[in-house]
Amino acid sequence: MKKRVDTILTNIGQLLTMKSDGPRAGKAMKEVGLMEDAVVAISEGKIFYAGNEFSAKDFDANEVLDCEGKLVTPGLVDPHTHVVFGGSREHEMALKQQGVPYLDILKNGGGILSTVEKTREATEDELYAKAKFHLDRMISYGVTTAEVKSGYGLDVETELKQLKTTKRLDNSHPIDLVSTFLGAHAIPHEYKHDPQAFLDEMIGMLDFIKEAKLADFVDIFTETGVFTVEQSREYLKKAKEAGFGLKIHADEIDPLGGTEMAAELGAMSADHLVGSSDEGIDKLAKAGTVAVLLPGTTFYLGKDTYARARKMIDEGVIVSLATDFNPGSSPTENIQLIMTLAAIRLKMSPEEIMNAMTVNAAHAIGRGNEAGQIVEGRQADVVIWDAPNYMYLPYHYGVNHVNTVLKNGRVVSKRREILHETSVSSKS
Ligand code: NIG
Ligand code: FE
Repeated sequence: MKKRVDTILTNIGQLLTMKSDGPRAGKAMKEVGLMEDAVVAISEGKIFYAGNEFSAKDFDANEVLDCEGKLVTPGLVDPHTHVVFGGSREHEMALKQQGVPYLDILKNGGGILSTVEKTREATEDELYAKAKFHLDRMISYGVTTAEVKSGYGLDVETELKQLKTTKRLDNSHPIDLVSTFLGAHAIPHEYKHDPQAFLDEMIGMLDFIKEAKLADFVDIFTETGVFTVEQSREYLKKAKEAGFGLKIHADEIDPLGGTEMAAELGAMSADHLVGSSDEGIDKLAKAGTVAVLLPGTTFYLGKDTYARARKMIDEGVIVSLATDFNPGSSPTENIQLIMTLAAIRLKMSPEEIMNAMTVNAAHAIGRGNEAGQIVEGRQADVVIWDAPNYMYLPYHYGVNHVNTVLKNGRVVSKRREILHETSVSSKS
């Protein structure tokens, strides 16, 4: 007897299930659960079946999606973004071209602090509309789950405004959002001479944020001219006591030892890691802290030295990748561009990149059991690609390869229609 389901995907070229019992490290990052001649069946928003023991004729489906021999993968997970913010910073491009370093722009009241000004000025509705625009673009690139950080308020009122905006978007937008409180993102003007008093004010918010379920993780920018390793350690200990998972912007620009600290504190992830020491990498592997690498940021800051992904993978670190989408150091929603940077600059293989953007990325934000895999019982987050195989994605760069995105079994994004007729005679 035929099985009744809502949707089936037929005529799939390659299916990557990414099936995995947990996050993947080292050689296991070569596995992608590749299947040929597979069918995917979806029922009530969940994967009902994914495999090749059954075929399309074994199902009675309301909707049949013919994949025309294309690649099918799980929806991508972007585990590090700053999507909710006011304004933009295109005026900084000229400063960068003149060679003014990122941290100098910040020291002079620009950078993160200029976005703070715009975010404080914006209403919640304005922030919501702007972030929705960016999330729509993210989903069009194949992202179905993402992390979002606050950190452009740096005062109680605006940080809460950002966190509430994220919650509202999580409730209304197809992308599932995991919220991170990054109140400790920079030192605001008001506290220029007393950063500890500022951190104490942010610590004072933790219990409320927890009770109101406004964030799952707490993050801090551990960097020269921002917060020291010692300040960060004390801050994160308080966050851990308050019940939050930990994330850290570590060793992004100067190698201060944030990587080691992240591992010692049992952080869920340590992010950036451009300047991580050998010891830091070893500690990450032992602690099982996910390394979230952000090559788009290194590219956009105009640096030549990238995070040592090869060493991390060889040492058994769980490696993930993200856009770091933000208005300063990485203004892009295009996670597919990050695939190419990871291939070219981090020397990651296509299989490692796929793991980094599905299984490991989901794990980095505490969604390892729900997102990142096309496996029976999981949410039906699926991308059909205009690509013949998964190696094609990092190879053909700078464009959007997505054909169709399904979130919880529903089609939520499709390749844009071309609104013209092509005929040989039209230009003659
Ligand atoms: O991850 N480094 C700190 N935070 C962001 C940049 C934020 C900004 O420049 O607005 C990052 O690179
Ligand atoms: Fe960031």
